[in-house]
Amino acid sequence: MRQETAGGPLSYDTDEGTPTPLLRVDGLSVSFRTPRGTVRAVDGLGFTVERGRTLALVGESGSGKSATSLAVLGLHEDAEVTGSVRLDGRELTGLRPAELSALRGRRMAMVFQDPLSGLHPYYTVGEQIAEAYRRHFGAGRAAARRRAVEMLGEVGIPEPARRAGEYPHQFSGGMRQRVMIAIALACEPDLLIADEPTTALDVTVQAQVLELLARIQEERGLGVLLITHDLGVVARVAHEVLVMYGGRAAEQAPVDALFAAPAHPYTRGLLDSLPRLDDPDDAPLRTIPGSPPSLLARAGGCAFLARCPRAADAEEADRQRCAGERPRPAAPPRAVPADGTSHQVACHLPLPAAGPGDAAAAGLSVPPPLPAEDSR
Ligand SMILES: Nc1ncnc2c1ncn2[C@@H]1O[C@H](COP(=O)(O)OP(=O)(O)OP(=O)(O)O)[C@@H](O)[C@H]1O
Ligand code: SF4
Ligand SMILES: [Mg+2]
Repeated sequence: MRQETAGGPLSYDTDEGTPTPLLRVDGLSVSFRTPRGTVRAVDGLGFTVERGRTLALVGESGSGKSATSLAVLGLHEDAEVTGSVRLDGRELTGLRPAELSALRGRRMAMVFQDPLSGLHPYYTVGEQIAEAYRRHFGAGRAAARRRAVEMLGEVGIPEPARRAGEYPHQFSGGMRQRVMIAIALACEPDLLIADEPTTALDVTVQAQVLELLARIQEERGLGVLLITHDLGVVARVAHEVLVMYGGRAAEQAPVDALFAAPAHPYTRGLLDSLPRLDDPDDAPLRTIPGSPPSLLARAGGCAFLARCPRAADAEEADRQRCAGERPRPAAPPRAVPADGTSHQVACHLPLPAAGPGDAAAAGLSVPPPLPAEDSR
């Protein structure tokens, strides 16, 4: 794992004895003013991403995943963003646009779902990688060209010297996504934010791109914030998972703990909607009944109440608490893992711990994590 940081002197957290996380987000809120009122897309979110680790942000459409990633990158133009975002201890909120722009690409880079929207149709892919390198390192043209070819080779594009001279439309969807990853990594960032990076790809190409990201992460000690609604992808590559619901943290845990014994009824619902090994081929896809909450007029209690089977079965007094008091993240009532990793759930009635192998016992067909030898 890489310990040193690139990109100049930075200030550090004052919490003595605790290593500074690569990315630390506290009390993040993102609001949009709309004709119908203020939409609070992210509401008091906190998390950390460590070097060499992948935190997956998961949740249904509209749960605030992209609004969170754009806030970390300082890319919101029409939103009110409050809270704290610290990269290696340095506070990013309040930085001037030029300072943020210098950090983007150099210290933190992004890969989005649709590679075409991030690539310019009139420049060769080699020129686009070289341009990113020149901008952040001030390299000469020849050195930047060499770097572009090297990066195309590193992301597994055959004949990189020839293909560097081709245009985006000459590449397949999977190869374009590799080009985007090459651009993102050309400046050796410490943090990579990948928003649905494989959603547009077929399953085989998706697995190849995920393997590539895992290999590069291992080699470079990259911290990765991976945004996805695909729990299969989460099981394959994430180390930690943050489940979002209605712009808030529902549950956060190491990936194994979350899959083995989710504590939040919403996480349980997401896992239950995964296909099962014993499902017939023509079984309909399961979904969580009900719709996501309105982000316009938030009620005081739990945002999941209207869809929550646990509250529906609860005693009246418990249901009243769910309706009237917002649940805050806290450790669920279960043993702390031997390695001390923390599990947090925002629920007044967290689910009890299940027996060992809960996910397997439930017959979930979750793909296994990428084995170490596959990710090289
Ligand atoms: N510019 C905007 N103006 C108003 N509302 C917005 C804006 N951008 C996002 N929102 C709202 O904020 C909420 C969160 O959106 P966000 O894009 O973060 O969701 P998401 O979790 O990334 O969903 P998806 O899985 O569909 O990408 C949604 O209700 C969305 O409609
Ligand atoms: S706080 Fe209540 S409504 Fe919310 S998830 Fe927990 S049990 Fe369900
Ligand atoms: Mg999104």
